[in-house]
Amino acid sequence: MKSGKLRKPAGGIAAVILAAGRGERMGSSGPKVLESLSGRPMLDWVLESVAGLKISSVFVVVGYQGERIAEYLKGRKGIRCVPQKQQLGTADAVDSVLRYLKGYRTLLVLCGDTPLFRTESLKGLIQEHRRQGNRATFLSAEIPEPASYGRVVRQGRAVVRITEAKDCTPQQLAIREINTGAYVFERKALVEGLRVLSPSSSGEFYLTDLIGLWAEQSVPVNAVKLTDADEGWGVNSFEELVRATEILKNRILDYHRRRGVSIVDPATTCIASGVQIGKGSLVYPFTVIESGVRIGEECRIGPFSHLRSGTKVDSRAEIGNFVEVNRSRIGSSTKVKHLSYLGDASIGEKVNIGAGTITANFNGREKHRTVIDDGAMIGSNTTLVAPVRVGKRAVTGAGAVVLKERHVPVEGVAVGVPARILKRKNGIPSGF
Ligand code: UD1
Ligand code: MG
Repeated sequence: MKSGKLRKPAGGIAAVILAAGRGERMGSSGPKVLESLSGRPMLDWVLESVAGLKISSVFVVVGYQGERIAEYLKGRKGIRCVPQKQQLGTADAVDSVLRYLKGYRTLLVLCGDTPLFRTESLKGLIQEHRRQGNRATFLSAEIPEPASYGRVVRQGRAVVRITEAKDCTPQQLAIREINTGAYVFERKALVEGLRVLSPSSSGEFYLTDLIGLWAEQSVPVNAVKLTDADEGWGVNSFEELVRATEILKNRILDYHRRRGVSIVDPATTCIASGVQIGKGSLVYPFTVIESGVRIGEECRIGPFSHLRSGTKVDSRAEIGNFVEVNRSRIGSSTKVKHLSYLGDASIGEKVNIGAGTITANFNGREKHRTVIDDGAMIGSNTTLVAPVRVGKRAVTGAGAVVLKERHVPVEGVAVGVPARILKRKNGIPSGF
């Protein structure tokens, strides 16, 4: 079950992601960690938070439908899948990867079902662990309704154990500080600790029990509390997945707002991660912007616009009602304001695209490009059958169907079905 090559350990830190569980509370057919969160498997978000730490070796512990996870991760550099034979608990999951970790001093252990950690928080956890010289340090969070999370039990300020919800006394259940399942361990101590760990009341081996074991022996262990508790959100059910989607969505919208983008109605705006939007741009309601889209400054997007991957919109352009733009470039100050589909198109500056304009980019076998040069005026309901080019300042009449390769010359005029190209004399089209 190998996927990706690992660099040789350098006595540093390796990451371990636990993803072998079946996810019974989720009730889905595949492995829980491959459930989609905002268009990407949950596991991908975990890997992304780790990627920013520059940890060169990541081990993913797989079990239930592990081959599907291995297939998904195939070829990714620095990531290796390791099987856990039987799902005997989180401690057993870590145990199954230990033999690959001999060269590392420190381990970052994360669960595959906690996709919302920011890289900065994980970085802070590792730094605190080192600064305090702990054997184990974990991220905790203060939440109003801790439900099924493990509770952080303290005496005074000291952490004395993590108790799983089902083993809690009523007093412990009232504790609001929870374990988020993100830990840093000293590897050697972990190896010894796992050797002596007894099974929990459910028969599973809990990684969390190590904290109590070491605290009892006065070995330094501690928790670092998250400032933004939402980062520690764990996904065990579909309801929790929906909430994770909401948290992620709001985080992305906040990111853009802080960079000077106005989002009129956050509730009906979906912006994927990895989108760039320039200062002073305004996004109206019911707009979907997919990953990788780049939008310049002072643009107007929406309402009801769909900008799909591979699209670049230059400054001051306007994309309006019921417009879908796919793998296209829209030049600055260009307007596409109503009822259009632009796919595989390259559109220059100050172009006006009339209502209902369609680029017919797919002939059933291949996709072709449409080019519309600067200053062109595309009449309402024009259909441009790609590959085709409309020259600078050219015009198409309402309802024109411009057939493939019937390029409209610079300042040319195209009318009719199929469109006839007219010449202009002193700026006036002739030959009707
Ligand atoms: C776990 C923690 C709990 C914490 C919560 C945070 C334990 C015992 N409990 O509970 O304290 O508050 O996460 O979200 O660790 N897994 C394996 N192999 C196994 C069992 C689980 O790889 O044998 C993986 C799962 O795929 C999952 C992760 O470990 O990604 C956590 O397991 P899960 O069953 O979700 O634990 P929680 O009940 O959420
Ligand atoms: Mg969980």
